[in-house]
Amino acid sequence: MTWWPETAGDVDKPRAKEYEYVTEVLDYGWHNTSSPAFNMRLEQAFAEKFGVNYAITHNSGTATMHSCLMAAGIGPGDEVIIPPLTAAATALVVIHQNAVPVFADLDPDTFNINPEAIRELITPRTRAIIPVALYGLSADMDPIMEIAEEHDLVVIEDCAEAFLAEYKGKLAGAIGHMGSFSFQGSKHMTCGDGGIVITDDPDYAQGVRYGMAFGYSTIGAESAPTTAPPREVRQDPNFARHVALGWNYRLAELAAAAALGQLERLDDLVGWRQAVAAGYAEVIGDCDWLRPQKVPEGYVNTYWCYTVLIDTDEITWHQFRDQYVGFGGDPIYGAWRPIYLEPVFSEERFYGRGCPHRCPLYKGTPQQYGKGLCPVTERIQPLLLQFRTNWDRQRAQQQFEALGKTIAYFEGNS
Ligand SMILES: Cc1ncc(COP(=O)(O)O)c(C=O)c1O
Repeated sequence: MTWWPETAGDVDKPRAKEYEYVTEVLDYGWHNTSSPAFNMRLEQAFAEKFGVNYAITHNSGTATMHSCLMAAGIGPGDEVIIPPLTAAATALVVIHQNAVPVFADLDPDTFNINPEAIRELITPRTRAIIPVALYGLSADMDPIMEIAEEHDLVVIEDCAEAFLAEYKGKLAGAIGHMGSFSFQGSKHMTCGDGGIVITDDPDYAQGVRYGMAFGYSTIGAESAPTTAPPREVRQDPNFARHVALGWNYRLAELAAAAALGQLERLDDLVGWRQAVAAGYAEVIGDCDWLRPQKVPEGYVNTYWCYTVLIDTDEITWHQFRDQYVGFGGDPIYGAWRPIYLEPVFSEERFYGRGCPHRCPLYKGTPQQYGKGLCPVTERIQPLLLQFRTNWDRQRAQQQFEALGKTIAYFEGNS
């Protein structure tokens, strides 16, 4: 097996920087208006790594997208086009802004949102598109940006699962008007929970920062050592603090310190996942009934997970999983249900009183969230196998062996 490059080393082990930075925070102590500025350092380093002007840390990759929608002024009566196969967060933030999620079907090969499907769903109410870089692979961004330009739409890339993924020489997340990343525990770089928004636009950066920190009048687009207004300002009883509607989506300094340590070795963390993905690919080889997520020319997939479609009627998802686990593989994940089939959507358990669909400000036909809405998604979703890529060398080897034996078993060579 040739899959493990020497450079991958024991990539999950060297955490010296994380320890050093976290210790720096602890030694500094807890203060309200001053900090060791790890959020600022993380923002600046992330912006530099992605070649953008601004980065704004948040406490999750859900909060990030909520702030993006606030910054874009999305609200009641607006429609936002999203894919049906993604973490629920992508859709829930739209509902939380009292806007209407509209689901565009997937490309059957890349499993990402299909630009042609987006085009068919544009209405005078469409205000934004959230393409998701699913499993580590960018959506087809050129046509999406063209559609956005034609119809004056905001594009928010959900790159929670796609750090350093590339699309035609550009980094995913830095192509749309704003890009959102998650630092949740399973992601390429993590601090347990957290997230970050990137953008080149100073107005969006300002709006996102307002969303993140209570709409404080003293914060701007640029990174600063702390979001708290200076003491002499905040002590004044006449101080007008809040100039915009915002939340408290701040990332703790301790978490920012750990995330900065991870960012400094992000290339290794990504390379490690790509190496594990290459291992799965090598085992699958020319097996004609397992079809991996297609990586079109000009794309670089950074493999949050390695995803494969069972492309035969003769083997069910559960049969495959049972054999794989029986051969020592880690219990494998299926893909999320299409979001619109989750009870919160199909039973419209939103804010009550008909919002957002039957809100008097919404002039479209209420969306029918039910079976048949996105046929491609409904056909492929039940057949997807998501193989984890964040294994150490020994556990990865175990998965490859289990996969090889499972394939041989179903091909009658066991
Ligand atoms: C595609 C996608 N979007 C958004 C999120 C939400 O991120 P978080 O868990 O940090 O809120 C996740 C994962 O958690 C995700 O995979």
